Amino acid sequence: MTDIRTVGVVGGGLMGSGIAQVAAQAGFTTILREVSDALGQRARVGIEKTLDRGIERGKVTTQERDAALGRLSITTQLGELRTCDIVVEAIVEDLEVKNALWKELDGICPPHTIFASNTSSLTIAAMAAATARADRMVGLHFFNPVPLMRLVEVVRTVTTSEETFDRAFEFARRLGKEPIAAKDNSGFVVNLLLIPYMLDAIRALEHGVASVEDIDAGMRLGAGYPMGPFTLLDFVGLDTTHKIAEIMFDEYREQRYAPPPLLKRMVLAGMYGRKSGKGFYDYSQDPPRVNELGL
Ligand code: NAI
Repeated sequence: MTDIRTVGVVGGGLMGSGIAQVAAQAGFTTILREVSDALGQRARVGIEKTLDRGIERGKVTTQERDAALGRLSITTQLGELRTCDIVVEAIVEDLEVKNALWKELDGICPPHTIFASNTSSLTIAAMAAATARADRMVGLHFFNPVPLMRLVEVVRTVTTSEETFDRAFEFARRLGKEPIAAKDNSGFVVNLLLIPYMLDAIRALEHGVASVEDIDAGMRLGAGYPMGPFTLLDFVGLDTTHKIAEIMFDEYREQRYAPPPLLKRMVLAGMYGRKSGKGFYDYSQDPPRVNELGL
C-alpha cells in the first residue's frame, strides 16, 4: 500500500480551498489547481484568512500557519498533479465537467494515484467509468466549512477496491476528520436527509407558513440546530443546492427532492447565498438582513 504524501486538490472554491488547507495543515505536500491565476489567488487569500482567524482564536500557532502555507502550492497547470498520491476533486457539480477532468488526470497521474470526488450528489460509479482506474475511484465527501466540520463520508462504489477504500478512509483520519462509510447512492447519508429538509423549508416559505427569520429561529430554538435552514442554504450555496436537488430528483423521482420554483428563480437571479452576497439574507448589511423577495 503506497503511503499518501502528496495531495492534489482540483477546484479552489468554497470546498476545495478548505480541503487544501486541512491537507497542508495535516502535513501533506498539497497542490491546489484552479482555472485562473485570479481564482488561485482568491483561494490563497481565503486560506490565509482562515488560518489567521485560527491564530486569533488560539487554535493555530504562527509556526503552524507558516508551515501549512509552505506546504501548499497553487497552480493553473493540471500537469503539476502528476506527483500526487491522491487527487481530491471539488469543482462544479456537473458530471460532464468532472468526467472531462478525470479523463485528463487519468493520463497525467501514475497508476497508484487515488481519485476522490467531493461530489454531493453525483454517482461515483459514473466518474469511475470515465477512467481506466475504476477500482481506484472513491468518494470523499467533506462538509462546509471544511476546517471546522469533522465528518467525511467515504463512499465506496461497486468498482472501488478494498485497498482504495481503506487508503481513503485512513487519509480522512490523517486529516483529523471522523470518516463514516457510505454507499454510492445519491446524497450518501447526510444529504439524503438534509436536502429534503432544506427544500421543505423553502416550500414552507412559498406557502406562507412563516417568515425566513421565524423558520430559522424555529429550527434553531425548537430543534436545537446550530443554524436555521435558510442560513444553512445561504451557507451551502443556492446554486449548489439546486444542482444537488435536481440530481437527487433525477435518481429517486420523488417529489421531496424536486427543487421548488423559488429556489430556481433565486439561482436564475444570481442569488447564490453568501458567496454572491445575497440569498435568503442580504450580506451587504452587518448583521445580514432578510432579502426582500417580493413574496
Ligand atoms: P464553488 O463554486 O465554490 O467552487 C468550485 C471551484 O471549482 C470554482 O472556484 C471554479 O473556478 C473551480 N473549477 C471549475 N472547474 C475547474 C477545473 N477544471 N479545474 C480547477 N478548478 C475548477 O463550489 P463548491 O461549493 O466548493 O463545490 C465544489 C464541489 O463540492 C461540488 O461537487 C459540490 O457538490 C461539492 N460539495 C459542496 C458543499 C457545499 O457546502 N458547498 C459540501 C460538500 C460538497
